[in-house]
Amino acid sequence: MGLTIEKLNLHYGSSHALKNISFQTATKGCTAVMGRNGAGKTTLLRCLMGVLPATSGKISWNDQDVAILPPFRRVREGFGYVPQGREIFANLTVGQNLEIAAAAAKVEEPEEVIAEAVALFPVIGEMWKRRGGDLSGGQQQQLSIARALVTRPELLILDEPTEGVQPSIVSRIEDVIAQLRGRLSILLVEQYFDFARSISDHVVVLSRGEVVLHGAASDINDEAVKRHLSI
Ligand SMILES: Nc1ncnc2c1ncn2[C@@H]1O[C@H](COP(=O)(O)OP(=O)(O)OP(=O)(O)O)[C@@H](O)[C@H]1O
Ligand SMILES: [Mg+2]
Repeated sequence: MGLTIEKLNLHYGSSHALKNISFQTATKGCTAVMGRNGAGKTTLLRCLMGVLPATSGKISWNDQDVAILPPFRRVREGFGYVPQGREIFANLTVGQNLEIAAAAAKVEEPEEVIAEAVALFPVIGEMWKRRGGDLSGGQQQQLSIARALVTRPELLILDEPTEGVQPSIVSRIEDVIAQLRGRLSILLVEQYFDFARSISDHVVVLSRGEVVLHGAASDINDEAVKRHLSI
């Protein structure tokens, strides 16, 4: 059960961007994916969502093969995605960003899930009628996370949610992830090791498209991880 990735390969033309990636996550708890700029973290997440096609390998969720499903079907199977750079709909209002996501995922009680997301990020309620593009970076990041949550994910995939966000909002986002990890499977790409370790159960380190370290957050060797993260 949970997410299982087996020998996943992906090429951009002749460039081999993901090399035999294998690891598993549980149905609950947080796995941090770390690695230097260009290591392949975003490529891995986009491949898991089905936005980029794998060259070979298996992706299964709760023992079901999802590698054959297009992105919207993966969302219906429980995958929620918070992309790097947020990618909210700039010309829609904050409210519309959430309503569209809930409708696309065909959630049964959209008002209820939207109210839950607003309770986690109160600024969304305050900005409800504003255009997404008029929000600050940190507000957009909260909207992007909320937009993934209103699809009622069982697996929440977050790509550097604290990147370029002011410290007070970073702590809000950290608190929300800490709350959610008790009931969801979370795959978190994060560049700050101390935060990643404090919030994660498992850590996966990528270097040049390969898994170079993988282990329980409590046993992982700090120095070894830091060696793979430093430039
Ligand atoms: N669309 C693309 N076409 C060709 N090569 C790409 C493409 N996107 C990414 N790459 C290359 O694939 C490698 C992995 O990039 P990726 O964006 O996955 O890294 P990352 O670990 O997310 O980096 P960052 O920490 O900067 O976000 C890099 O060498 C990058 O230049
Ligand atoms: Mg990236």
